[in-house]
Amino acid sequence: MQGIRNNLVVEINDVSKSFGGLVALSDISLDIKQGEICGLIGPNGAGKTTLFNILTGIYSPDSGVFKINGQECQNLKPHLVVKAGLARTFQNIRLFGNMTGLENVMVGQHVRTKVGVVGAIFRHRYARQEERQIEEKSRALMVYVGLDPDTNQLSNTLSYGDQRRLEIARALATDPVVIALDEPAAGMNATETGELRDLLMRIRKDGVTILLIEHDVKLVMGLCDKVAVLDYGVKIAEGKPNAIKQNKDVIRAYLGGSLS
Ligand SMILES: Nc1ncnc2c1ncn2[C@@H]1O[C@H](COP(=O)(O)OP(=O)(O)OP(=O)(O)O)[C@@H](O)[C@H]1O
Ligand SMILES: [Mg+2]
Repeated sequence: MQGIRNNLVVEINDVSKSFGGLVALSDISLDIKQGEICGLIGPNGAGKTTLFNILTGIYSPDSGVFKINGQECQNLKPHLVVKAGLARTFQNIRLFGNMTGLENVMVGQHVRTKVGVVGAIFRHRYARQEERQIEEKSRALMVYVGLDPDTNQLSNTLSYGDQRRLEIARALATDPVVIALDEPAAGMNATETGELRDLLMRIRKDGVTILLIEHDVKLVMGLCDKVAVLDYGVKIAEGKPNAIKQNKDVIRAYLGGSLS
């Protein structure tokens, strides 16, 4: 039977994934409650992005199961995972570079539209009305993330920080229950990172659960309700930021780096 248990919008159970001889993820389990910000940290190559790729249907796990918003998703294609309620951004930004920001966000929403291809071709009144609604909502989302919806700039000419914000707007356009952000602060300066922090807090306040991969430890520790730590594909710790900062295994994994 499917359903949401204990307010858990993400339930990952014993997910494993190997690439040839390399074990990228080994029996990973992780639960995230509705409204939480959960950090996912770990050294380079720890398996963080691989876990996102599994959750979003890009790879299938070798074993293990996971539910998004109560629905089993381990066998679903990416667009159906989005429908189940999980949207994401990418470590290497994946926008349509030769479209404007607004067009990028509008594309994000089409996963939810009721008018199919035929309706779109014949431009029924209903389709035109829906298109207008999509544009309005996309404009509002751009303002929400701090971008100007009226700029005609192509997205590949936007600053790095703005492209990352635009990816978040596009993810939000799918009306997600959970958004998974893969290093959203990468390439941002201190001011942009501060704005990102405010944006993520607003997104959470507005009811969207967040799974956050981030190397900016200060951002993670200041923002997250809980943090899971991967090292060589194994979850070595999970807990509140303060406990994670003092965890010996975590400190060892980051040897040479800094957790403060
Ligand atoms: N498609 C693939 N084919 C082969 N190996 C892969 C593939 N995807 C990931 N890997 C390997 O799996 C391991 C985990 O990679 P992953 O990208 O998940 O790490 P990560 O924690 O996101 O690291 P980073 O912090 O550098 O982004 C790495 O050793 C990587 O080389
Ligand atoms: Mg990665």
